[in-house]
Amino acid sequence: MTAALFTPYSIKNVTFANRIVMSPMCMYSCEAQDGKATDFHYTHYTSRAMGKVGLIFTEAAAVTKQGRISPEDLGIWSDEHIEGLKKIVHLSQEHGAKVGIQIAHAGRKARVDGPILAPSAIPFDDGMKTPEEMTKQQINETIDAFREGARRAKEAGFDVIELHGAHGYLISEFLSPLTNNRNDEYGGSRENRYTFLQRTIDSVKEVWDGPLFVRISADEYNEEGNKIDDFIYFASEMKKQGVDLVDCSTGGIVPAKINPYPGYQVTHSEQIRHGAKIATGAVGLITHPLQAEEIIQNGRADLVFLARELLRDPYWPRKASVELNAELEPPKQYERGWN
Ligand SMILES: Cc1cc2nc3c(=O)[nH]c(=O)nc-3n(C[C@H](O)[C@H](O)[C@H](O)COP(=O)(O)O)c2cc1C
Repeated sequence: MTAALFTPYSIKNVTFANRIVMSPMCMYSCEAQDGKATDFHYTHYTSRAMGKVGLIFTEAAAVTKQGRISPEDLGIWSDEHIEGLKKIVHLSQEHGAKVGIQIAHAGRKARVDGPILAPSAIPFDDGMKTPEEMTKQQINETIDAFREGARRAKEAGFDVIELHGAHGYLISEFLSPLTNNRNDEYGGSRENRYTFLQRTIDSVKEVWDGPLFVRISADEYNEEGNKIDDFIYFASEMKKQGVDLVDCSTGGIVPAKINPYPGYQVTHSEQIRHGAKIATGAVGLITHPLQAEEIIQNGRADLVFLARELLRDPYWPRKASVELNAELEPPKQYERGWN
């Protein structure tokens, strides 16, 4: 029997050769602080494509300059970014990988000069700036920036777009009662707290009809925060809006002590997959081929996202194929050394 991890997976008209996804990881490598891709990015992502990862996500790319997690982040706030992104896409697609981009706004966790924005004027902690509470106009402009980012991603040829709705960045700040004290239509009830994401999805879908993922933090590690039922509600709404997959991470909303263990976020993926009947991705300390296989085989997620393990080993899919006794076609230049 073929290992489930190595079965193809299709969304809309895009087929990933296997269920292994490179999770988005900021590489802080735009040294000119202009958001443009560099030689590092071309080598870094292409290496994982040669390693036969089915879907490669670029790190979070900022939809506004002020929404960067750090000044060295990739950007997608200007048409000038398209050329470099196109090259990342092309180089990886050449080796059979599909390529996704995570588009993001860091909200109150932006570490940039000048004012930063958030749903409410509450800093993350004592060491971070106090953000400005967004006006309705700033909300509209930011939603437009997500749409423009999606338009540029399409022009660059990406196969998938993921909205970064996790880790305490802007979208998750709207979703969480811990960071959103607004008393207009964007705050209060969970229906209202979902409004920003709802409008962002609709706006992105005006220009993007390909696979759309949303990453969430499905556990806020705080008694007063959203609970799994809230995330099942959000995921059900996303499904109604045509989101294809919810990528289930946790944490980062407020300072909290987390004790991670292998696969510690897989149960969140499983609960959302079954609760909202939507495809999910599992991420977090997934490092062993059998562990990944168990997740897919038992329907706990549709895709497994690996982050640090793929930094350690860009050829992890090859190792997994050997351990799981699955066929994995090598880059043809590597045939003599693959098996
Ligand atoms: C260097 C580094 C940068 C990261 N940057 C991002 C990012 O840009 N977007 C994101 O959603 N998660 C980011 N993450 C989180 C990873 O995608 C992943 O969810 C986390 O590392 C857990 O998976 P792992 O145990 O396989 O590393 C980053 C993690 C690392 C180690």
